[in-house]
Order: sequence, then structure tokens, then C-alpha cells
Amino acid sequence: MKILGIESSCDETAASVVQDGRIVLSNVIASSLEEHKLYGGVVPEIASRRHAECISSVVDEALANADCTLQDIDAVAVTYAPGLIGSLLVGVNFAKGLALAAKKPLVPVHHIRGHIASNYISCDIEPPFLCLVVSGGHSHITAVKSYTEFEIIGKTRDDAAGEALDKAGRTMGLAYPGGVSIDKLSPEGDENKYTFPHPRVSNSMYDFSFSGLKTSVINTVHNAHQKGEDIKTADLAASFQKAVVDCLVDNFELAARNYGYTKLAIAGGVSANSKLRAQAKDMCDKNGFELFLPQMKYCGDNAAMIASQGYYEFMAGSRAGEGLNAYATMPIDKAVF
Ligand code: KG4
Ligand code: ZN
Repeated sequence: MKILGIESSCDETAASVVQDGRIVLSNVIASSLEEHKLYGGVVPEIASRRHAECISSVVDEALANADCTLQDIDAVAVTYAPGLIGSLLVGVNFAKGLALAAKKPLVPVHHIRGHIASNYISCDIEPPFLCLVVSGGHSHITAVKSYTEFEIIGKTRDDAAGEALDKAGRTMGLAYPGGVSIDKLSPEGDENKYTFPHPRVSNSMYDFSFSGLKTSVINTVHNAHQKGEDIKTADLAASFQKAVVDCLVDNFELAARNYGYTKLAIAGGVSANSKLRAQAKDMCDKNGFELFLPQMKYCGDNAAMIASQGYYEFMAGSRAGEGLNAYATMPIDKAVF
């Protein structure tokens, strides 16, 4: 069975054809990231315009690279939530038109469920497992009970991990996205040079809070400026990255132990982080857990993960009509459309 996936929730316009949920036949991504760098973050207006300009050719290319026509496709899967509303609407409306014209079923896909599916196209993993989902907008510890059933065990109370890394990167004067810049610079720094708080969240052993860490890095930079002291940015980047990764891996370990999961996976843009990947591996080796990681090319936003999850949603009977809308927010465990 071949699913055409379409993704446009942020600044990547992507299309992909995936066979039987696991075999990626094509994976095309057009990104407007370079334009957003000028402004230090994604400008929603620009992102939507670029989606509208290139979605048609991105889909054509994905079909051509998979050696397919629209008629060879069994269903069209599209990200409908969560994300930037103007961006999502371009993908949703394009997918609706395509499905209607070609008389193919339309399958709505939750973006974060898609990120989790990046593991299905990267490794041999099947639910149930525990997944740490860390992206620019989300930080969740999610029990993946089946391909379409999820339970949130822990979540961020404020900023997402990627958001905290991006904001910290900006404070340090690094290029957007800060998460990528911090990962690149950290090996040159001393991660024990600065100590950041390790926040504990009341009433939950598994929730995260990153806003205090972010304030702390801003204060460190301002205090140094006021005292006329030099800061070695690599030390600050490495220390901040350590603080974020420690929080993520500690809670992940605790949740796995307490809920009895031995199969663990990571997903989302921050899953590309080299320290997170290494530290999660060490934690899993220590506990005798099995760790699954998405291939680097599937960590960031892409449509192959949407087509993969779309396959499992399709098999579970999920279909949308022409009234499908896009939503800026939507919980992963109670996703509706
Ligand atoms: O999943 P994603 O591409 O988009 C969302 O759905 O949000 O995640 C983007 C986030 C950004 O915050 C970016 O800084 C972060 O992923 N990111 C990284 C790395 N690569 C991307 N953070 C840390 N280390 C990386 N190597
Ligand atoms: Zn994403």
C-alpha cells in the first residue's frame, strides 16, 4: 500500500511516498529556513507564502522520485495539527484538492504522531514503547500503546526543549536555530564551567520546565557584561546543553523504570542532538533498555514520517472529508478533526 504524505506545519514544505508504513520511496523537502534566519525565528507570513509557492512542485517531485502517478497512490495523508495555522492550511487545502480530484481517501495526521513514526521508517520498532518527543514546540514523554493510541506521561509546563535551546542560542549571539548552533559549538566548550538549575516540577515526577533555565542563561550573560567579564560562548553553550539533556534523560529514565518500559525511542527535531543521543544511549545501556533513534534525515520536519503514520491511521480506519480543518494546537492523545 502506498501513501502520499504532505507536511507544511512550520517552515518545511515536504512530500513523500511511503510503502506499507515502512519503506520510503521518496522524500522531498523544500525549506524556507534561510529566509527566517534573517529575523532570528520563523516568520509565519513568509512560511505560508513559500508553502503556497512550492507545494505543487514538491508533491510532483515526490511522486516522480517514487516512480508513481497519483493513481498509484492508495491514500493522501496530511499534517492537520498542531503548527502554524497559515502554514498548515496550505498543506491541508492542497491535500483536499488532490484527494478530491484523484478520488483517493484523505487521512489527517497529527504532527507529533508523525515525529514518533520517524522511528518506523528508521528502525525495526513496533508499539508498545516509551517515546521522548522533543521538538521546537513540544517536549513530551509519551507512552505509545499502539500505532494510534497514546498516553502523555510527562510534558513541559512552559517552553519546549527546542524553544529553550533556540532562545538560549539567540542570547549567546548564535545563528538560528540555536539548537543546531549549540550542538555544533558545544564540543569546543567545557560543559562543567557553568551550573544551571535542574528544575523539579511540583506534583509531577515526569514534567519538564525549561523557562527557568532560559532565564538563568540570560542572567549569566547580562551579569558577565555588567562586570566586564568575557564569556567563552562554547563553555556556555556546552553547559546549557548539558542542563537541558540532563533534565530530559533523567525524567525519561524515571518514567521508563516506573512504567516498566524497556523499549525506548526519541523523536522530534531535538532528537538530532548529539549529546541527547549519546546520553540516552548510556542511560539505556545502564538499565538494560533498548534504544531506538530516528535517522538524522528524519529527525526534523519531513513528510515521510507523515506518510508512515498516515498508513497506520488509514489501517485503523481514519478518514477525513472535504470539511477537514487545520488546528494550531491539538493534544496527541485525544486528536480529533
Ligand atoms: O521537529 P522540528 O523540526 O520542528 C517542530 O516540530 O518544532 O524541531 C525544530 C527544533 C528547533 O528548536 C531546533 O533548534 C531543534 O529542533 N534542533 C536541534 C538540533 N537540530 C534541530 N536541537 C538540538 N540539537 C540539534 N542538533
Ligand atoms: Zn516537527
